[in-house]
Amino acid sequence: MLLNNSKKVAVSVGCTACLLLLVVVVVLVAVQHRGAQLEEERTEPHHKRSFSTYFTKLSRGRRDAEKPVRVPAEPPPAEDISPGDIFIAVKTTKKFHQSRLDLLLETWISRNMQQTYIFTDGEDEELKRKIGSHAINTNCSAAHSRQALSCKMAVEYDKFIESGKKWFCHVDDDNYVNVRTLVKHLSQYQHTQDMYIGKPSLDRPIEATERLGDNKMKPVNFWFATGGAGFCVSRGLALKMSSWASGGHFMNTAEKIRLPDDCTIGYIIESVLGVPLTRSNLFHSHLENLQQVSRSEIHKQITLSYGMFENKSNIISLKGAFPVEEDPSRFKSVHCLLYPDTPWCPPQVAF
Ligand SMILES: *[C@@H]1O[C@H](CO)[C@@H](O)[C@H](O)[C@H]1NC(C)=O
Ligand SMILES: *[C@@H]1O[C@H](CO)[C@@H](O)[C@H](O)[C@H]1NC(C)=O
Repeated sequence: MLLNNSKKVAVSVGCTACLLLLVVVVVLVAVQHRGAQLEEERTEPHHKRSFSTYFTKLSRGRRDAEKPVRVPAEPPPAEDISPGDIFIAVKTTKKFHQSRLDLLLETWISRNMQQTYIFTDGEDEELKRKIGSHAINTNCSAAHSRQALSCKMAVEYDKFIESGKKWFCHVDDDNYVNVRTLVKHLSQYQHTQDMYIGKPSLDRPIEATERLGDNKMKPVNFWFATGGAGFCVSRGLALKMSSWASGGHFMNTAEKIRLPDDCTIGYIIESVLGVPLTRSNLFHSHLENLQQVSRSEIHKQITLSYGMFENKSNIISLKGAFPVEEDPSRFKSVHCLLYPDTPWCPPQVAF
């Protein structure tokens, strides 16, 4: 009886231990699973298929506007980098020097003159006065054609290689770049690793046809980071791209698949070199509903954008230092949120 009881106790103690262990294992698995889920949710691709899908998204987005964009905690840095280690290429065209570029020069570029390079297609003495040799006339056509865009990307690539910097980041002239978060994000990786970071603009790989010469075609599928949201490439990877991207090679590669500049970058990296795109939801283009960026998370984003859709402005929702009439892109308000000590920011604004 006594023996039996102590057996029971032993069994029950054993079971409790088992159960505890099981609970610990279950919790651990759940945490890991949630981590993976978060990663997936964070990298959920955005549609760009048609304006109607986009519009549906816009209206849906208004309902979702209060949903916070989840941002995972940043792991410790893998490499300590400073803003000076990043080459930020801003693609523009002469017709937008006043209407778009001046806003960027007044806001985020003013704090990042040393690492920002402006790639344009015309001479502008005023721009040179503001940013000196970092205003680069690519001599490419000012047309918004596939060839003209690839021509500029080719010059951006060559100038980056020449600069010796650790990271290449490309943005458009309607992007606000939060360089502090960009530095923090990139320091999770080594610049010698093969890294291609950005946000896919489609929810599936793009299907293209590679022209092999003598009228042969080969179908290819690959992901690419949308240029309008900005993307970054590590120096390690950029060097491997040389045979397809340097000198005149980029234009030839773009011709081979007949796709725009950002797709061509994706083609070289994913399809030719076999390096997968690392998705980040912290990059934002005007092709997504910008109201979905949660107010409380604005300072955590890497890039922001603004645009118009069917006569309505597509902008982030921010009750900031300036009203929408004075600051339609919201970039000035974002800038005052991030750098309240800027002389032209109203003092002590409460958000
Ligand atoms: C564009 O042309 C000018 C004048 O010929 C030249 O000085 C400049 O280096 C060219 N720019 C590039 C990026 O090749
Ligand atoms: C946008 O506004 C312009 C001028 O006010 C008007 O002619 C056009 O029809 C509008 N377009 C849409 C899609 O509402």
